[in-house]
Amino acid sequence: MTRKFGSYQDEIYRDGLRGVVPRFPTTYAELESQAQAALPSSVVSYVAGGAGDENTQRANVTAFERWGLIPRMFVGAVERDLSVELFGMTLPSPLFMAPIGVAGICTQDGHGDLAAARAAAQTGVPMVASTLSADPMESVAAELGQTPGLFQLYTPTDRDLAENLVHRAERAGFKAIVVTLDTWLTGWRPRDLSTGNFPQLRGHCLANYTSDPVFRAQLARPPEEDVAGAVMRWAQIFGNPLTWDDLPWLRSITSLPLIVKGVCHPDDVRRAKDGGIDGIYCSNHGGRQANGGLPALDVLPAVVKAADGLPVLFDSGIRSGADVVKAIALGATAVGIGRPYVYGLALGGTDGAIHVLRSVLAEADLIMAVDGYPTLAQLTQEALQRVD
Ligand code: FNR
Repeated sequence: MTRKFGSYQDEIYRDGLRGVVPRFPTTYAELESQAQAALPSSVVSYVAGGAGDENTQRANVTAFERWGLIPRMFVGAVERDLSVELFGMTLPSPLFMAPIGVAGICTQDGHGDLAAARAAAQTGVPMVASTLSADPMESVAAELGQTPGLFQLYTPTDRDLAENLVHRAERAGFKAIVVTLDTWLTGWRPRDLSTGNFPQLRGHCLANYTSDPVFRAQLARPPEEDVAGAVMRWAQIFGNPLTWDDLPWLRSITSLPLIVKGVCHPDDVRRAKDGGIDGIYCSNHGGRQANGGLPALDVLPAVVKAADGLPVLFDSGIRSGADVVKAIALGATAVGIGRPYVYGLALGGTDGAIHVLRSVLAEADLIMAVDGYPTLAQLTQEALQRVD
């Protein structure tokens, strides 16, 4: 499955001949600053902020600068194949949209999850839909078209609710369940703390709960009449500090591929694999959860080695096509983009997100062309050199 991702630049240059320049920025720095100007300040602090002094968050990004791809010549990489096989699906590229719990309130219309799903439908870039969305997962799934969606589970302490969320995801057509392990509580986030701002406590992005019969049955009054009551119940059941003892139960509740997110240590990879997990998602949550950690990219090679053939999804710090190429060369099977697509949503809803996804894919494709790596299989660690 080859797609000419790089040809996005031909469209842009052709439009330029008619005097038309791109509606949205083509650098991450400009995207970030324009999006932050467009969003309410409380949303900016939640999206852009990270844990502590945000050193880990910054290090996630700068870690990519310490690797360089070595160009190969006389390759004639006219056709590039970026496709990947993942859980029985053939995807056009390794890129996917990471789950973002407030994407819903990042578009002007307050339906950012639907906008992201439409961007998935139009680009073929899969979306990992967060538990924390402004619209119920069934509505998100309905916008995905032919593009696969994965459902990200924040496991509630109430097992019946957890199982019902997973079964709803199965019925809605999601192709895999991603269980996030690093966020059973919120890390220390000074930007949000300084304004006392936590969107979910204000009733935002809880549609998967308020639409759920198991959750609703636990409320004294329907959430439509008593938002505060629903939020209070949500806060009670949101975070489950899972242990290895919970893994057999998690494994038993779905026959869909099960992926665990937030895994960064090789021992945890091996144990998850032994417990029947189908995929490892290496991530430090974009540095939002615990400061003082390693850049996620630095732990990726050891995670890949321990996974020993199991697919490894990766995110944290991806800002460009060059980053995607490097993460693939360090062993990722698929690469998640987080904040950049949310900034695209903020600037232009579906169109903005599509522009971001197409730009990242175009750059990755053009790097593979220029540097002579026509397939992802050729992007190995030997293709990279450490930059001192
Ligand atoms: C997240 N992330 C996240 N992860 C998850 O599993 N479920 C979620 O609901 C959310 N919500 C969320 C909200 C916001 C505003 C951000 C920025 C991130 C983490 C996300 O999936 C991914 O790991 C990070 O975004 C990767 O870091 P960068 O590349 O975006 O900096």
